[in-house]
Amino acid sequence: MTIKKVMVIGAGQMGSGIAQVCAQSGFDVLLNDMNKEALDKGMNRIEKLLARSVEKERMTESDKEATMSRLKPSSMLEDAKDCDLVIEAVVENMDVKTSVFQQLDEITPKHAILASNTSSLPITEICAVTKRPEQVIGMHFMNPVPVMKLVEVIRGLQTSDETFTKIDEMAKQLNKTSVEVNDFPGFVANRVLMPMINEAVYTVYEGVASVEDVDTVMKLGMNHPMGPLTLADFIGLDTCLYIMEVLHEGLGDSKYRPCPLLRKYVSAGWLGRKSGRGFYTYD
Ligand code: NAI
Repeated sequence: MTIKKVMVIGAGQMGSGIAQVCAQSGFDVLLNDMNKEALDKGMNRIEKLLARSVEKERMTESDKEATMSRLKPSSMLEDAKDCDLVIEAVVENMDVKTSVFQQLDEITPKHAILASNTSSLPITEICAVTKRPEQVIGMHFMNPVPVMKLVEVIRGLQTSDETFTKIDEMAKQLNKTSVEVNDFPGFVANRVLMPMINEAVYTVYEGVASVEDVDTVMKLGMNHPMGPLTLADFIGLDTCLYIMEVLHEGLGDSKYRPCPLLRKYVSAGWLGRKSGRGFYTYD
């Protein structure tokens, strides 16, 4: 089976980015969202990003048009009936994802691979709600998708070698570097990144250093492009807290205990950039 036609479900921040890179790489793509407004917004976002690439001479106008001609909006999951691959990027909620995968299992052709872009939910559990667990896999892209090179390819307990190989090849066709990851809470990216962010919050909480100084240490001392607290504000403090809770519960180790200061900020609605205030304030 060769992957030719792809559906991306969820036209939000991640789904629109995934649909864009798939279309740019020559795949026929359906971008699906159940919310018409979100779908229009996602399609417009892609068009704007491609137009900017043309302006900056990173892409020709004809490449942009060819990319857009391969990309179609979709508001019904039934449109996945002739897709070879579906990449799900809906909200991070197990019940919503389970329902989407059960429907896709009925709609898509027998050969189709079903992938999830989840950043924290167990792939093995998603596999298990379908009748084709060996053809279900995690494809964890990084934000912003058109810019970031990495894809974590996550094998559920029942994912077959054939499915893994197909998705690994697909990631290369998208001009990404993939890594093979087994299904454990946080995979690799968040298991390593989030405890570092959480520890940075602890250093502020315990009065070891100021927010700015913690970020300066990691930027100038470790050559990180962005300090951990700036990064936390960018990701969203609610998302950081949620992932720490997944690690804490899933791995059962107190070293993953979310910092009380992180909890307090989230309770106050200080969610980072998106709410105008987190460790820093934004206009
Ligand atoms: P988002 O909230 O921007 O977009 C989600 C979209 O899914 C919305 O447009 C919503 O209308 C749509 N949707 C919800 N239920 C649906 C359904 N049943 N059928 C069709 N569409 C549906 O979310 P975002 O940030 O794009 O995240 C999506 C997924 O990607 C989540 O699983 C998240 O954990 C994961 N992820 C997010 C990253 C990030 O930095 N935002 C990074 C890596 C993964």
